[in-house]
Amino acid sequence: MPHHDVMVEAAAMPMTETAYAKINLALHVRARRDDGYHALESIFAFAEDGDELSAQPRDDGAITLLIDGPFAAGLDVGGDNLVMRAARALDAYLGGGHGAALRLTKNLPVASGIGGGSADAAATLRLLCRLWGVTPSAEALSAIALSLGSDVPACLASRTSFVGGRGEEIADIHIAGLDGAPLLLVNPGIALSTGPVFAGWDREDRGGLLADSIESLVSSGRNDLESSALSLAPVIADVIASLRRQHGVLLARMSGSGATCFALFHTACDRDAAAALIAADHPGWWTMTSRIRSL
Ligand code: C5P
Repeated sequence: MPHHDVMVEAAAMPMTETAYAKINLALHVRARRDDGYHALESIFAFAEDGDELSAQPRDDGAITLLIDGPFAAGLDVGGDNLVMRAARALDAYLGGGHGAALRLTKNLPVASGIGGGSADAAATLRLLCRLWGVTPSAEALSAIALSLGSDVPACLASRTSFVGGRGEEIADIHIAGLDGAPLLLVNPGIALSTGPVFAGWDREDRGGLLADSIESLVSSGRNDLESSALSLAPVIADVIASLRRQHGVLLARMSGSGATCFALFHTACDRDAAAALIAADHPGWWTMTSRIRSL
């Protein structure tokens, strides 16, 4: 029965989601809070590309995870994995018993300031809501996301946004010229844990973030974690310098707690030329070309 065959094939097709790489166009640290987290003001933007996640249902109620891709070796598939933690947290919220066979293709370097783990967790929540046919309220989903990490709530929508608090206050913003802007990410092959970079912040409040254009992001935006990250990984200074001297660069800065740095370019041609030059000069550095995700 041809009709039956088609049905079987459709059911076997995995559902997929992209875990979009996050960049902090600016990251202002305002204060260390009593709970140990830091009060931030940041503009988050997302690449069109990132890790890839797929899922198929499992009738036995088990949640399993396979990891492949260029950075799979840096990750453990065990219970600490953010994909597993996100899946378990959603399953628990739903009362338990939901099964899924998950596969993560790890394209982004681990512990690199572009939200890989956070984006993976957020993509897992989006994907499993579809797979399991559930629609938790935005509030419930945000609370689950925040329990997994400070950046996970913003990664749920993966839209350009102003982010405050420790990461849970999120407001969509529009920045002229940003949507679709050619983007280059460069990591010097160094993993930095977020906690120690925050701990090295010099506790000087350099002021809030007021940026509504790429120009004002350049002139008044900062990444206040840059000097702390630089003291742990001095090569970051070389990455930023090599991005800033490229033709057609609009803005170049470190993202998050590093060590990945990003640059926005006038044109895709400028971006591709910069990527080729940097890859030739530094064969050990990781580069990824993309565009700013627009919705
Ligand atoms: O929230 P998440 O687990 O991703 O954060 C990792 C670490 O980064 C925290 O344990 C904390 O040391 C630091 N952090 C912070 N302030 C934030 C976010 C993260 O100090 N707003």
